[in-house]
Formats: sequence, C-alpha cells, structure tokens
Amino acid sequence: MTTEVRSRIVGTGSYKGEGVLTNHDLEQMLDTTDDWITERTGIKERRVVSKKIVTSDMAAHALGQALDMAGLEPNDLDMIICGTVTPDRPLPATAAYVQKKLGASNHCASFDVAAACAGFIYGMSIADVFIRTQKAKRVGVIGVELLSRVLDYTDRNTCVLFGDGAGAAVLVADESDRGILSTHTYTDGSLTELLIIPAGGSVMPTTPNTAAERLHYVRMEGREVFRYAVRYLSEAARTALKANNMTNDDVSLVVAHQANIRILDGVAKRVDIPLDRFVLNIERFGNTSSASIPLALDEAVRGNLVKSDDILLMIALGGGISWGSALIKW
Ligand code: ACO
Repeated sequence: MTTEVRSRIVGTGSYKGEGVLTNHDLEQMLDTTDDWITERTGIKERRVVSKKIVTSDMAAHALGQALDMAGLEPNDLDMIICGTVTPDRPLPATAAYVQKKLGASNHCASFDVAAACAGFIYGMSIADVFIRTQKAKRVGVIGVELLSRVLDYTDRNTCVLFGDGAGAAVLVADESDRGILSTHTYTDGSLTELLIIPAGGSVMPTTPNTAAERLHYVRMEGREVFRYAVRYLSEAARTALKANNMTNDDVSLVVAHQANIRILDGVAKRVDIPLDRFVLNIERFGNTSSASIPLALDEAVRGNLVKSDDILLMIALGGGISWGSALIKW
C-alpha cells in the first residue's frame, strides 16, 4: 500500500522593513484623512522600505528565516517559487536572485508566479502538486511585494491602501495526516482591467510619454474590486470546506489576504466565521498583496496562535482577477 504524501509547512519567515508611513504622514502628502482611511479600510500605517532595498532582498530574508525555523539549509530546497507582481526586473525571475542571495548552489528550479494578491496561494498550490507527485521534497514559497515603487503617491484612491513586505514558508513532504488538505485557484479574465499597471509591458512599452503620464503606477476600480472580493472570497471559503467535508465550525483560524477590514468583515458574515478567528494585521501593514498571507501566517506562528492539528483556512483575491484558497491541517 502506498502512503499518501502531503505538503507540510515546517518553517515561516517574513521581512517587514523599518520605514513606517502613517495615515498622518499621508495627510501631509494628499487630500485625505486618518479618519477616512481608518473607517474605509482599517489601515493605520504601512511599511515603505528604503531605496537601497530591492524585492529579492526582502524575499531572501523571509525565506532565510523560514529555513532557519525549519532547521534546513538553502541547498536542501528542490524549488523556490516567488509570488510577486513587483519583481526585481522583468527578466530574470526574482526567484533566481533569491537563490543567489541565499547562497543555494544546487541549481534548484526557481521561478516567479504573477497572480497579484493570490500569488502566495498560487505558489503553495504549485508546490503542493510537485510534493504530492513526489517530484520535489522541499519547496520554498514566497510572497513578496515592493509596491511603494509602483504606487502613485498623488492618487489617493490607491496609494493609501498598499505597503511593502515579504513572507515565506518552507513546505516539505510528510506522510502524516497533517499538511495541505486542498488548494483551489481561479481567475476571471473578463475582469483584467479592474486592477492594472497600464505601461511597461508589450501593450504599452516604456517611453518618455508613458512615464510623464504616470502609466507605470497601479490603477484600480476600488468599488468593483471590493464587490468581487467579498463574493469570490466567500465562495472560495465555502468550496474549500465542502471539498474536505468540513464546516465553518471546523476552522480554527482564517489567514486571509489583508486588503480591507470591511472586505474581511463581509466575508466573515457570509461564511459565518467570527472575525475574531481571523488573523488581522492590516492596521499595521496595509495591503501587501502576495506578501499579506505569509506575513500574517508568520506573525500567527511566532505569536503561538497556531497549534498542532488546527485547521487553517487561507483565502486571497487580487488583480487578474485571480483568487484561491488553501485548507491546512497544522
Ligand atoms: N481619502 C479621502 N477620500 C477618498 C480617498 C482617500 N484616500 N480615496 C477615495 N476617496 C473618495 C472618493 O474620491 C469618493 O469621493 P466622491 O464620492 O466625491 O467621488 C469617496 O471617497 C468614496 O469613494 P469610494 O470609492 O466609493 O469609497 P469606498 O467606500 O468604495 O472605499 C476603497 C474605497 C477603500 C478603495 C474600497 O473600494 C476598497 O477597499 N476596494 C477594494 C480595493 C482593494 O483592496 N484592492 C487591492 C487589491 S485587490 C484586493 O486586495 C482585494
């Protein structure tokens, strides 16, 4: 009889950066108020890293911490998957720089996944398939964003929402009944224009005009994204539980993408899981896109909020529109 192999998270890590940009700081830069931002989003401050730092620095730091917790070396990894939409460069993959910065010399496959705020869930889902099919034994999955470099700090509709950060997890093959129970990933390509960076790709290559017209910054239809977020995240939560013959009562902790406290509140009500079972750090970090779940997870793990055998529900949605879930027995 063959034993089923699962992917189990054995280490987590993060990079938070030191520069703090508060709502009061933003009040000095834009026509906005602390009250508006706090009431509409739940965000009080976010991190902005210094000019010297690049995406792969943050990612390598987070994965290094996760490896330390796991008691593993960089060369033990068979694969590095980096969820990001703010890479070091268009070419090569940020994951290749992470491999180099960690000093891994074993040629492990290293690549990026662009699924915006769902990037970490997509990364875990890919890692899980490689581990379950025994093509990899140990995979580093990262969610990292340096959003402050693609935000227009004259646009109050977007810049108040986002922050910089990185989080990572080390997944290993495990034959116990613990680990990732399921992942589900989705994209609705009819909604591509709701959240975009217009220029810098093949549609609109970089020119002096694209820079002058501020087309290299994030643009978003916030109200529409909000509507889809509540709906699709709730559906994803229900599907994950149903696929595992579980109900809302089985969930110990929800580690959801930290986009807006009102989105999380809406999801909590729809899936009937009280908000006090959600890990919440949006107040301090804002929306860090693909970094938000692994950052929240790392805080929960290091804060001893996660216990053996707990059921963790992860849900995320972002540009694409792409979204997904992971259900984990810790
Ligand atoms: N300060 C003050 N006023 C503002 C600000 C600001 N920072 N931003 C917008 N406003 C104004 C608008 O201009 C508008 O004014 P008007 O009525 O005179 O036109 C008014 O506030 C209301 O704007 P709405 O867009 O209706 O405000 P809403 O309550 O929808 O909140 C928000 C906007 C916070 C962006 C919300 O729609 C949201 O969170 N959407 C989800 C977006 C998101 O999280 N995206 C991240 C990526 S995807 C994801 O992570 C899920």
